[in-house]
Amino acid sequence: MADRVGKPTALPIDMDRLWRSHMEMARHGATPKGGVNRQALTPEDAAARELFMDWARNAGCTVQIDAVGNIFARRPGRDHDAPSVCTGSHLDTQPTGGKFDGAYGVLAGLEVVRALNDAAIETRRPIDIVAWTNEEGTRFAHSGSAAFAGLVDLSRIYDCTDRAGTRFEDALTAIGAKGDLACGDRVFDSVFEAHIEQGPLLERDGLSVGIVTGARGQVRYDVSVTGMEGHAGTMPMDMRRDALTAAARLVVAMEEIGRRHPPQGVCTVGALTVAPNSRNTIPGSVRFSIDLRHPTSEGLASMAQAISDAVQEELARGRTAIELHVLDREEPIQFDDALVQLLRDSAGICGIPSRDIFSMAGHDSCYLAPKQPTAMVFVPCRDGLSHNELESATASDLADGTRVLAAAMLARAGRV
Ligand code: GLV
Ligand code: MN
Ligand code: MN
Repeated sequence: MADRVGKPTALPIDMDRLWRSHMEMARHGATPKGGVNRQALTPEDAAARELFMDWARNAGCTVQIDAVGNIFARRPGRDHDAPSVCTGSHLDTQPTGGKFDGAYGVLAGLEVVRALNDAAIETRRPIDIVAWTNEEGTRFAHSGSAAFAGLVDLSRIYDCTDRAGTRFEDALTAIGAKGDLACGDRVFDSVFEAHIEQGPLLERDGLSVGIVTGARGQVRYDVSVTGMEGHAGTMPMDMRRDALTAAARLVVAMEEIGRRHPPQGVCTVGALTVAPNSRNTIPGSVRFSIDLRHPTSEGLASMAQAISDAVQEELARGRTAIELHVLDREEPIQFDDALVQLLRDSAGICGIPSRDIFSMAGHDSCYLAPKQPTAMVFVPCRDGLSHNELESATASDLADGTRVLAAAMLARAGRV
């Protein structure tokens, strides 16, 4: 039969099966409030990874794992050596995570493969469903997709630690997730990722699908503030070198920097540790994170400058030492024009109204986009809520996003 690369055709998707897969996956790390706490490389994450690999093998895929635990489940194509069409996302979650952030992208990929099997369709290119390790960056700072894309050295990701001091590599080994595939050693024809929007626009517009044209720039910092411990009763206020009050002024300054860059500049302090954390000792040191995002390079640079200025202002008080360490910096990205158009066409072929949309969230695709043609499809989530146990999406919207994903992947993989 002729190779029909390039033209999207609709593929029947099993909405109920897709929904059931989400509900079953969400049991791993399930929280009493109905969310999921499945932080990277924990026993809960290990169970989710095993479940995905079982399902993928049952769907006829061969499974390989790379040196940072990224899982590649491959449905062979007629041409074994052709660069594959890749889709996937992550299985780890935030501490107060939901059932869909990340899991949807992996399970939508699985549903595409299952649907191709049901329809007995062979493709020319192989298809890879990938579960990228630690996208959330909540337990460990660096993600498997960034390592795959060469943005983080292997030694840097291996040596990063969680708050308890556990090294990434040790956690990886402990759950048996360190594979023998070299990290980054794979070329994709194209990369697609399905994800919940994590914002309110699709719901507001009454649409089930958004075609993502690009994503925000982001700078992540670690800040350490050092003062001096002292007695909470005897040390006069004007002699104190309190690291926490200095950090508190900086935290408020971060909020103001976000507000000074409307409508889309955002700045968040999400993690903070105080030492010695004792009721009657003046805090001697504080560490905290800053997450800075803006849709443009200029906006990002202006916000980054404002952060340096706020630190200088605090230093000028002469009470503390402050180190502002840039963990990483990502410029805003545009997804691949041809793949974006293919997704729009696929939505059209499937009879699903869609709109273009820009992502202020980070995704595995943001790391992969500079390396290979990449694009994303969004579906709505209730009230735009995410990184929250109440995160919710409908079976019908999840299925619509998967239909669009499947049509585009099939076009790219080439039906034989
Ligand atoms: C990931 O969820 C991010 O946008 O930080
Ligand atoms: Mn995500
Ligand atoms: Mn997330």
